[in-house]
Amino acid sequence: VGMPRRRVAVFGAGYIGLVTGACLAELGHQVAIRDIAPEKIRLLRSGEVPIYEPGLGDMIVRNKERLTFTLDLDEALDGAEVAYVCVDTPPSASGDADLSRVWAVVKSLEGAAHLRAVAVKSTVPVGTGSRVRSALDAAGLAHVGYASNPEFTAEGTAVNDFMHPDRIVVGASDEATAALISDLHEGVDGPIVVMDVRSAEMVKLASNALLATKISFINEIATLCEKTGADVEEVAHAVGLDHRLGSHFLRPGIGWGGSCFPKDSEALRQLANNTGYHLQLLSAVIEVNNLQKRRAVQKLKDELGTLAGARVALLGLTFKPGTDDMREAPSTVLAARLLAEGAEVRCWDPMGRPADVEPWSSTTRYDTPELAMDGADAAIVVTEWPQLKEVDWARAASVMRRPVLFDGRNLLEPAGMRALGFTYLSVGRP
Ligand code: UGA
Repeated sequence: VGMPRRRVAVFGAGYIGLVTGACLAELGHQVAIRDIAPEKIRLLRSGEVPIYEPGLGDMIVRNKERLTFTLDLDEALDGAEVAYVCVDTPPSASGDADLSRVWAVVKSLEGAAHLRAVAVKSTVPVGTGSRVRSALDAAGLAHVGYASNPEFTAEGTAVNDFMHPDRIVVGASDEATAALISDLHEGVDGPIVVMDVRSAEMVKLASNALLATKISFINEIATLCEKTGADVEEVAHAVGLDHRLGSHFLRPGIGWGGSCFPKDSEALRQLANNTGYHLQLLSAVIEVNNLQKRRAVQKLKDELGTLAGARVALLGLTFKPGTDDMREAPSTVLAARLLAEGAEVRCWDPMGRPADVEPWSSTTRYDTPELAMDGADAAIVVTEWPQLKEVDWARAASVMRRPVLFDGRNLLEPAGMRALGFTYLSVGRP
């Protein structure tokens, strides 16, 4: 362990704060991660990671000399040159992002003697930077620079995404701050793009909205494939080979979820509304996503005749594989609608532990997909966990009351599943 390069205080020990803090420590900086939740800090100090993120635990252990976790503000700010704001910005009732946690952090920086820059990673509305600027000025921190440094890491691959990004966006109002934040990233394998603060804030929202747009687009094409006999997998593959379009985020499914796309697309729509300009395309993208979840339940209803009294197994609950995150997971909408239709909902997930609230408190959990399907009238592949490829599907078909399988992620092979006796439904494949 050499001399630390810089001292950094990270505010927020959630997904973003932990990944940012651990990666900055990996890059050689001395990092203090501060959170206001005693339980989180206690866990982290005892060597446990409160979230599931591949590679994160190892990275924290590897850098334990350069990484501290604290509830204490003074300890976090002791000698810190950069304060990273990584707190969450949940939607408020109006649809605008709730920035109260950001303001609490900014306010707490008052009196931080060594501070040279405040960098915001939390996703915030365009214009937040100038409001933070005013708050810093008012707190006697006029000499402290401000940077918007949005993150583009995806859950499940966050550590790798941080260390090998497609780009690092640094929005700063002055050159010294841009240089300081750029310097912090020395050792990261990706280009740094420096711009003004508002543009950096917009890049984050625009990127997530365009990714969501690609998914909603291919989901609508999938619907049309179902009506015309085309195969969306063939279509998406060939469309994606056009390098102007790109092959990523063209996987059809039962809709996008997670802690980012739903929140960020709503926040961007609200941001636009506040300016008096209504984003037509983004509104449609959101509506298509809601429709996609309704269509999933309708598909099953059409097949079974009625859902009342039907036993339906939901396979995979998290919003995507490789995470334990249940936030805005399509499974929650599916479970609620199935229950409302009178179905009995059984579920399996290797990671997701839904809180014991509705709709989950009215469902039954099983330890394996096979047990969830035993005696069921239908099963839905909701999340494409690789474990589902290993299921003994022949046996599953024989123990189901009715072997109806809706593969909501096009994970399995249609001909093979039909040969096993399944009534096999998928998204946009004949
Ligand atoms: C997303 C972005 O990919 C990150 O770049 C961004 O930094 C992050 O949000 C964020 O704003 O913090 P994440 O929410 O972790 O990351 O997950 P994704 O892998 O993007 O998946 C989002 C949703 O889209 C999932 O429900 C997934 O199942 C769905 N999806 C994704 C599809 O239905 N089809 C696809 O082709 C891709």
